[in-house]
Amino acid sequence: MLDHLIMELISEERHRIPGQHGFLLAVAALMDMRYPFTVGHSIRVARYAKDIAGEMGLDPEFRETLEFAGRVHDIGKVGISRACLLKQGELTLDEMKEIQKHPILSYDIIMDVPGLENVAKIVLYHHERIDGHGYPHGLIGEAIPLGSRILCVADSFDAMTSERSYKRAMKVETALHELEQKAGTQFDPGIVQAFIATFRRPNPNCLCTAYTDPYVRNGQEQDDIRSK
Ligand SMILES: [Fe+2]
Repeated sequence: MLDHLIMELISEERHRIPGQHGFLLAVAALMDMRYPFTVGHSIRVARYAKDIAGEMGLDPEFRETLEFAGRVHDIGKVGISRACLLKQGELTLDEMKEIQKHPILSYDIIMDVPGLENVAKIVLYHHERIDGHGYPHGLIGEAIPLGSRILCVADSFDAMTSERSYKRAMKVETALHELEQKAGTQFDPGIVQAFIATFRRPNPNCLCTAYTDPYVRNGQEQDDIRSK
């Protein structure tokens, strides 16, 4: 059911956004589908990010840019070995370093498309942490672009509430609590607050409520959350 919904969305977007932008979306979606545990990941991240931006009252043009950035944020994983991305056990330092190259690879790919410089910049910094312990550049606080800080929260929430080869999905409430716990270190506290607000006020037009429900229903939970 979920796969079918995602395939429909991909096909709609491919027709709605022709040319190089549409091509990037299609490649990003295929990247997600290459790995059984990431199907639909970028679509959900884009929707969460857009809703956060809406909650924060950010302007529509920025929201569009952010949504697009969400769709293509992990496109650089096309340049990371499958062995690394599919590894079930603990990653070695070298493997970790390889995976951490993906925001730069994403940036390089997106920068090749004229007019997407803003998208590329948001994507480049989506794994930065506000305490400066993120990557690729270890930027601190507001030195990290706002769009990247939003994407980081959306991306982390989806990772927490999704099953992976090395962990089961976390319940939504547990994941929101985790975001709160890490607000001020990993995440921007204002953005976490805005995200949680979107969950407290159900809105049929909003969110990936449709995507998160199955995780609530399954009641799956596990503590092992490895940073991607
Ligand atoms: Fe990423």
